[in-house]
Amino acid sequence: MQKFSAQIKKSGKTIALVPTMGYLHEGHISLVRIAQKVCDATIVSIFVNPAQFGPSEDLNSYPRDLEKDCALLKKEGVETIFTPTPKELYPAGYQTYVNALHLSEHLCGISRPALFKGVTTVLTKLFNIVSPNKAVFGKKDFQQFVIVCQMIKDLNFNIEIIGAPIVREADGLAMSSRNAYLKKNQRKPALSLYKALKQSEQLVKKGEKRAETIIGAALKLINSFDETLIDYISICNLETFEEVKIIDCPVLMALAVKVGKTRLIDNIILSP
Ligand code: PAF
Repeated sequence: MQKFSAQIKKSGKTIALVPTMGYLHEGHISLVRIAQKVCDATIVSIFVNPAQFGPSEDLNSYPRDLEKDCALLKKEGVETIFTPTPKELYPAGYQTYVNALHLSEHLCGISRPALFKGVTTVLTKLFNIVSPNKAVFGKKDFQQFVIVCQMIKDLNFNIEIIGAPIVREADGLAMSSRNAYLKKNQRKPALSLYKALKQSEQLVKKGEKRAETIIGAALKLINSFDETLIDYISICNLETFEEVKIIDCPVLMALAVKVGKTRLIDNIILSP
């Protein structure tokens, strides 16, 4: 891969990387289309990264379908798919990790302590291997997007990070590979995340500025379904993820909710 990308660059072409864990959906495809617009060559990596899963998380059951992914990407005109194996990226004796200290201590980092260290480590490796000019990330994982931007700055990567809007199903559910876990009767409870975010947006539109009131209403809506278990609902600073009490500038409202065994995340920017 390193040799291959050096050749592409030698021929004067630019490279955009779309890092994924596979089981691709329309959200990933939207990232691919952005990559194709901003660079000459698009490389999609597919790697279910063991380093970002905690011991009791869904590494083994994470959905995988490489054949279908390759067919989808081929249809989009993607010529290069990079699919390293866990042994190739983390051979015996592997010991170096990259960690964004403070940004990882909020939101998803609290209940998934391994997540962001694993993400920044694997992205460092993928960036060193693929050497892209640009890399595209979806903003459904808003915290991941901000942490990657911080890492690029802190570690002097010469890569432009592009954030892409959340892609939703027709009913509003944010697209995610993990939606494949949802049973038919869990669709409604899963939709409560989006409904709570839209409700919050409406409250802010009507002039509500108190985060506590908005979070309270979201809690009520999501808890009205038996199958939901809230991990967190946070209204916080867009760059630091510190909680805010009064919404007087654009802020992030982010939430993570378990529906049955499936952990879903979603977010919205609330602007007064
Ligand atoms: O967002 C994801 O799918 C993963 O966290 C990423 C960025 C591919 C790193 O494994």
